[in-house]
Amino acid sequence: MKHILDELEQRRAGARLGGGVRRIDAQHTRGKLTARERIELLLDTGSFEEFDTFVEHRCTDFGMAKVKTPGDGVVIGWGTVNGRKVFVFAKDFTVFGGSLSEAHAAKITKIQDMALRTRAPIIGLFDAGGARIQEGVAALGGYGEVFKRNVLASGVIPQISVIMGPCAGGDVYSPAMTDFIFMVRDTSYMFVTGPEVVKTVTNETVTSEELGGAKVHTTRSSVADGAYENDVEALLQMRRLIDFLPANNQSGVPHWPSFDEAERLDASLDTLVPDNPNKPYDMKELIGKLTDEGDFFEIQQGFAANILTGFGRIEGRTVGFVANQPMVLAGVLDSDASRKAARFVRFCDAFEIPIVTLVDVPGFLPGTSQEYGGLIKHGAKLLFAYSQATVPLVTVITRKAFGGAYDVMASKHVGGDVNYAWPTAQIAVMGAKGAVEIIFRADIDDPEKIAERTKEYEQRFLSPFVAAERGYIDEVITPRSTRKRLARALSMLASKKVETPMKKHDNLPL
Ligand code: HXC
Repeated sequence: MKHILDELEQRRAGARLGGGVRRIDAQHTRGKLTARERIELLLDTGSFEEFDTFVEHRCTDFGMAKVKTPGDGVVIGWGTVNGRKVFVFAKDFTVFGGSLSEAHAAKITKIQDMALRTRAPIIGLFDAGGARIQEGVAALGGYGEVFKRNVLASGVIPQISVIMGPCAGGDVYSPAMTDFIFMVRDTSYMFVTGPEVVKTVTNETVTSEELGGAKVHTTRSSVADGAYENDVEALLQMRRLIDFLPANNQSGVPHWPSFDEAERLDASLDTLVPDNPNKPYDMKELIGKLTDEGDFFEIQQGFAANILTGFGRIEGRTVGFVANQPMVLAGVLDSDASRKAARFVRFCDAFEIPIVTLVDVPGFLPGTSQEYGGLIKHGAKLLFAYSQATVPLVTVITRKAFGGAYDVMASKHVGGDVNYAWPTAQIAVMGAKGAVEIIFRADIDDPEKIAERTKEYEQRFLSPFVAAERGYIDEVITPRSTRKRLARALSMLASKKVETPMKKHDNLPL
């Protein structure tokens, strides 16, 4: 028996070396960890159970029969993050550049199937050169199998992609269909076609970083939801994210013990909104004061910063926060902000995560660039997402809620369950200046009259009370009590049930 066990250990040790010491060293020299080192950091110590360690490719073209590496460029298995089960696959760049062969794809689909069957999150760590060029169409078929499963699992289990090296060709579309993509700065990039092809086809000269680095994808394309300094930080942040996420769409959100009193009052919030309605304040400060221990995991921090999206906890349970940010473009809703928030709302709704919406929005952004860019369609995405959501929706209007943006931001009318306003709220069809200039156009040359009308408009409409008189606002609350009010509302709404008419699926404006 001993020699059999020795042989097993020898084979395992060989497989663990992947593409060999030289390529592992090269990986380290580039500031990257190997697939197995990454998995070690992501999962609880000693919890990783590997499958398919000895799988090899079956390609015989281009001399491939002679170069076989156990594992074939991807490490798969499952383990735990803070005791909760997750599935993982990690591309091994040291083996054929992590490229995808038929056998490699079958390993990924095996773990996708297991994750879906057992209803637990799946995390993919990417560091790869796309389709295994020697395999041709077998690799393309393999990608298709992976894509189909991404879609099948969408809305059932959380799917997370972390880009930790090159991610090109076929490798980009699987992450694109998962819930979140995170990147590592300076070592990762994502594109459908690389700089050489770009040069040939469009004659543009770009570097990989300029074409698809973390900066591009977190600030311009919005393909990525966040970026981290290095592999270690990225993986530790993924552990933090997993702690916020439910295992699946029916499990309910996790519950973590919190020492932060749910009914905690915060007097500093009474003076958060400045006297001058045109002066900004930091909505992130409010979120920090509402969540347990001030913990907030922000999604898409670098993109459309006029709206904030992310996860926090109240009474130990995950809540999705969507909040206008007056510090950036006065918190206006534009196409990017609408798309960003819509996707987040849909994620929360799919996974039964209650949503708290904090509103301070002067309206939709006017202008040709917005209209030509499809503001109507993009704004409709957010409106659609909120109107469709059946999770508990609690809304707090801190200051402005003007025009169509009032309706969109989880108003009572589109499904808000509990809608609060601070006494500083101004709920109206538009700001006083714009309103008076339209309805009292005849007096436009009389500054005194205009000033008087403006004051009149402000007193009548720029308060929460007109909306509260109609029941559109359930209660006007003191800012200091907001956390307590949210905690109580969320607890009351925990048993919310909504029946929606039977349909195959909706036709979300895309
Ligand atoms: C087979 C590959 C490979 C691939 C890399 N390698 N990509 N082997 N198929 N797709 C191998 C290299 O031969 C090399 O082997 C090792 O991996 C490391 O690659 P290097 O080029 O030395 O590394 P680096 O300089 O860091 O460049 C990484 C890279 C580059 C940018 C990813 O390798 C590259 O451009 N690869 C090709 C990318 C590509 O065109 N893929 C196909 C996309 S088409 P040795 O033995 O020297 O270590 C596609 C279609 C699918 O994916 C569409 C589905 C919808």
